Amino acid sequence: MQNEKIYDLTGRTAIVVGAGQSPGEGMGNGRASALLYARHGARALAVDRDFEQAQETVQQITEAGGIAEACCADVTEEASLESAIASCRERWGSVDILHNNVGVSLAGGDAPVTEITEEAFDRVVAINLRGTVMACKHALPVMREQKRGVIINISSMAAWVTYPLVAYKATKSAMIAFTEQLAIQNAEYGIRANVILPGKINTPMAVDTRARVWGKTRAEVEAERDASVPLRKKMGTAWDVANAALFLASDEANFITGVALPVDGGACVRVG
Ligand SMILES: NC(=O)c1ccc[n+]([C@@H]2O[C@H](COP(=O)([O-])OP(=O)(O)OC[C@H]3O[C@@H](n4cnc5c(N)ncnc54)[C@H](O)[C@@H]3O)[C@@H](O)[C@H]2O)c1
Repeated sequence: MQNEKIYDLTGRTAIVVGAGQSPGEGMGNGRASALLYARHGARALAVDRDFEQAQETVQQITEAGGIAEACCADVTEEASLESAIASCRERWGSVDILHNNVGVSLAGGDAPVTEITEEAFDRVVAINLRGTVMACKHALPVMREQKRGVIINISSMAAWVTYPLVAYKATKSAMIAFTEQLAIQNAEYGIRANVILPGKINTPMAVDTRARVWGKTRAEVEAERDASVPLRKKMGTAWDVANAALFLASDEANFITGVALPVDGGACVRVG
């Protein structure tokens, strides 16, 4: 008989890097994922550069009866990631799930290739790609010793479809290759690594940041983004991304590694 209690993360720990969210309305992908992991029994370490945002996530988890701690770390500083991962192990004895959610585009100064500055390109690479690599660098020795662990990386559908800004495109594409490398090089240790490609999701970062930068209302940006989604002409929500992450993190995905999973309402299968 299959265990009736599916997606059970009881006894596991989950580090969500980028567990806060950008200012604006609604729910961010990292926060929703931390909430879902905790709701399914994991102890969650909510890591964010913005400590107040991480604390807000922790408050929402503890109010719902879950266990979580907030941790301040900037993914551009390797030492702060190293100590976040060490603190999870010291506090709870293991590092079972590492979820790398941090990603910026416009907010990092990203631009089309003819306009990008060295500074902006390096900043986006450091935040989106190097930060994930460094978090994995410090989580993997613990996971290898445990002979188990799950890594969930958050890329973007921008890796596969037309996208105008160069640094986001390049880093989110690299996340896929990096995840495949992680999967194959750590398979013998029982560690799984998968990458999620969100499409158009209605998060504060995606909608409110664009409204601010483009001088439009939230409703205008929402309408434009909704119209471009094949499924129901409606963006996804952070819960759609979090549910995919929960599945990949759970034992129900025990034989799945090295996969790039679109969560995009059909955007990647529309051609022309
Ligand atoms: N929202 C979408 O439509 C969409 C689409 C595709 C991919 N994604 C990806 O999903 C992820 C999350 O998106 P979101 O919309 O929830 O974003 P968000 O901005 O709400 O959440 C990201 C979190 O990362 C934190 N962060 C930023 N820089 C950091 C740093 N240097 N160190 C530590 N923390 C830092 C922010 O404070 C924030 O809390 C990103 O990787 C994004 O590229 C989102």
